[in-house]
Amino acid sequence: MEKHERVLVLDFGGQYNQLIARRVRDLNVYCDLKNCDMTVEEIKAYNPIGIIFTGGPNSVYEESSPHVPAEIFSLGIPVLGICYGCQLIAYTLGGEVTHAQTSEYGKREIRVLKKGALFEGVPARSVSWMSHTDYVSRAPEGFEVLADTEAGTCPVAAFGSAEKKIYGVQFHPEVVHTEYGNLVLKNFLYAVCGVKGDWTMSGFVAEQVRALREKIGDKKVLCAMSGGVDSAVAATLIHKAVGNQLVCVFVDHGLLRKYEADEVMEVFRDKLGMNLIKADAGEVFLERLKGVSDPEKKRKIIGEEFIRTFEKEAKKIGAVDYLVQGTIYPDVIESGKGKSAVIKSHHNVGGLPSVVDFKEIIEPLRDLFKDEVRRVGFELGLPRKVVMRQPFPGPGLAIRIMGEVTKEKLETLRDADFIFRDEIAKAGLDEKIWQYFAVITNSPTVGVMGDFRTYENVIALRAVTSVDAMTADWARIPYDVLEKVSNRIVNEVKHANRIVYDVTSKPPATIEWE
Ligand code: XMP
Repeated sequence: MEKHERVLVLDFGGQYNQLIARRVRDLNVYCDLKNCDMTVEEIKAYNPIGIIFTGGPNSVYEESSPHVPAEIFSLGIPVLGICYGCQLIAYTLGGEVTHAQTSEYGKREIRVLKKGALFEGVPARSVSWMSHTDYVSRAPEGFEVLADTEAGTCPVAAFGSAEKKIYGVQFHPEVVHTEYGNLVLKNFLYAVCGVKGDWTMSGFVAEQVRALREKIGDKKVLCAMSGGVDSAVAATLIHKAVGNQLVCVFVDHGLLRKYEADEVMEVFRDKLGMNLIKADAGEVFLERLKGVSDPEKKRKIIGEEFIRTFEKEAKKIGAVDYLVQGTIYPDVIESGKGKSAVIKSHHNVGGLPSVVDFKEIIEPLRDLFKDEVRRVGFELGLPRKVVMRQPFPGPGLAIRIMGEVTKEKLETLRDADFIFRDEIAKAGLDEKIWQYFAVITNSPTVGVMGDFRTYENVIALRAVTSVDAMTADWARIPYDVLEKVSNRIVNEVKHANRIVYDVTSKPPATIEWE
């Protein structure tokens, strides 16, 4: 990748750290989110055009809280501290941070006392979003107070020094509730750091295509295509660079949604002209899942069988030089974090490298956030349906069928799920809800149809809003939409006589039922 202007976002553990990074990149400036324990030497080597400290849950007075060496402020690199980051600047440079009796959460009106570069264009009063307990009660010497809150809760809502190019804001400019937050960030980047804004999607695509072409030369590339956004965009980018030197293998495990396998072939093989091989393994997967109802066993079997199927296809293709993975930036960050309890053993293509004969892995999306991957997808001309596709788990419908997976249950689930998706799209909710799908509960109930008793499946509908799948809330789908879905499923789908809607958040539930 060519050298871009880079902003360093130092992560002090705040909830909005990724959001800050995203806002910066939306303002056409490349940035990386790095742990706050980066040394001054490492920062110098990174050579950022500006540094942003994120918020965090700590108090500067606790010994165990993350601190920074004062030297960071004499590197001549502009710094913006947000919330905890703001308090940290004040504390480190000799200002005063005070512990409040009560925390301040939510919207507050802030008053701009001095515009300077940071508040250029921001009106005298505006709404900002606060979330803190400690606050800066006195700015360090040589710094001016730029804003306060009218309520008096925050005597130093912002401070800074034009000369030192160091600023702190107690409020969160990255959240949408802060009316002029984006402008404050923009001012910091463009007016204080002096960025040119050289990070654009079309530039990224053109640059990646050129770099990939150069790197790959006339060599062979292999990609496991799932139809998911990340692998689709990664493969399309590489296809644009080296055409049919790329071979994609799509394992159809027979656990996909209605029409899904055909759609993948239609878009990528027929429309885009990719060299895409489909491995039809539905029967084998069903056979291996026979009699298995434990969720973890199902996941394990599917993961293993997936790798086995892919390996078989890869052997036919023979040795390749590169294996493509659709790793994106949050995956890179996640994998750097500590170990947590295994709730579900996620199945993805992570096990492939061990069974494929290749020299190097290429991850063309590893610098991007999910929404950026989507923008690349649009830039590459992928259909909206593919680019905006909701997340779908590797083990597919098997973990949405409670108990044993059978052909009949798969068919019922596919039809019910199709109706649910259809009605959600018709109601214009498909891009507003993070995930929405049907589940077969494995607990038949009694019903009456015509004059007859029925004893059939309960179908559960699950729909959640989320930003990263780590936490989720059940979606408030209008009753009339739910009514239509329910009516259609019991009328049109075989072996379903009752519909329920899942109203549990994550935690304590998870998004998928298994
Ligand atoms: P849970 O159910 O843990 O799901 O709340 C969180 C997100 O991950 C998806 N998911 C998976 N994705 N392989 C995947 O690639 C898997 O094995 C898997 N299991 C769950 C789930 O759909 C949700 O988006």
